[in-house]
Amino acid sequence: MARARVQAAGDGPEPVYQVHVFCCTNERPETHWRGSCAHKGSRALCDYMCRLGMVMGARRIRINHAGCMNVCEHGPVMVVYPEGIWYKYETQADVAEILRCHVMDGVPVQRLMVTIDPATLHG
Ligand code: FES
Repeated sequence: MARARVQAAGDGPEPVYQVHVFCCTNERPETHWRGSCAHKGSRALCDYMCRLGMVMGARRIRINHAGCMNVCEHGPVMVVYPEGIWYKYETQADVAEILRCHVMDGVPVQRLMVTIDPATLHG
């Protein structure tokens, strides 16, 4: 079933946040077949990104912990809106680069992008 656009660009109120980042920090048992982003260090890295954002004076930018985003095999993952660009991050340097380049300056970080094929999503 096709989903209609809720609103066309420019029709709605101004977004509350100019950039909204969701970092999966979901945790599953270590033996789970899909694994989880939390077991790959996402919680500490998301916290680090939040702290760094505050230090950098990020305004109207929100960095949130999120539940499973159903792309666990690529994790740890984050998605940055409004562009809807997905990243895999593994180090503080990765997170700092995404924050500085994409979130603050609007330049996506090609080397960390993950392409998600909707046809491969579970459920
Ligand atoms: S556990 Fe992170 S996307 Fe599923």
